[in-house]
Amino acid sequence: MSDTLLTRPARPEDGNRLYRLDHAAWSPLSEVAERSAPPTADSTVFDERHQPQDYLVAELDGAVVGYVRLVPPTPLPSNAHIRQIQGLAVDRAARRHGVGRALVDAAVDRARAVGARRVTLRVLGHNAPARRLYESVGFAVEGCTPEEFYLDGRYVDDVIMGLTLDQGQNTTGRQAP
Ligand SMILES: CC(C)(COP(=O)(O)OP(=O)(O)OC[C@H]1O[C@@H](n2cnc3c(N)ncnc32)[C@H](O)[C@@H]1OP(=O)(O)O)[C@@H](O)C(=O)NCCC(=O)NCCS
Repeated sequence: MSDTLLTRPARPEDGNRLYRLDHAAWSPLSEVAERSAPPTADSTVFDERHQPQDYLVAELDGAVVGYVRLVPPTPLPSNAHIRQIQGLAVDRAARRHGVGRALVDAAVDRARAVGARRVTLRVLGHNAPARRLYESVGFAVEGCTPEEFYLDGRYVDDVIMGLTLDQGQNTTGRQAP
């Protein structure tokens, strides 16, 4: 695999590819909801609550191989300084090539660009790949709800992670203009 990797805002026409990617990536390691219906030509991840502008996609050698969804956690003005990662997935065939990290970096940069103070997320306690990824980008564990979900025959913690943004820097550590 070569390494022509870029991230960009999602477009409406990415909806079917992202649905397929999400469906294929489903596992109780990362998901608490039932698996979605098998994809058809009309399937899309986008609806009233899931808009293309909330997504960033990763392209590897021209193919969409992952996405991250970044949204305000609530519509409340008192909560408007927070952005939350509510969805991250990378095609199995493209994992361990830096795609996930590029997406999280891009989400953090977008949060900073819109003036957010912090980025938060929830991750299942047993999801070691995702937890390591978030830690490697600078997220820290800030809380935990023990045994929040019953998945695959056992109780699983829900872990809250967060990152406080330094408004002067991007994820590469360079000073913003
Ligand atoms: C978690 C996920 C997005 C990682 O994507 P990825 O493109 O493979 O991640 P990267 O290649 O950018 O890896 C970045 C770092 O994450 C950690 N990491 C990623 N996969 C890992 C694994 N299987 N085991 C241990 N650490 C892992 C490593 O620290 C890695 O850095 P390194 O390669 O320098 O060691 C991907 O495994 C995935 O889609 N999982 C299913 C969905 C999911 O769990 N989403 C998160 C929900 S909160």
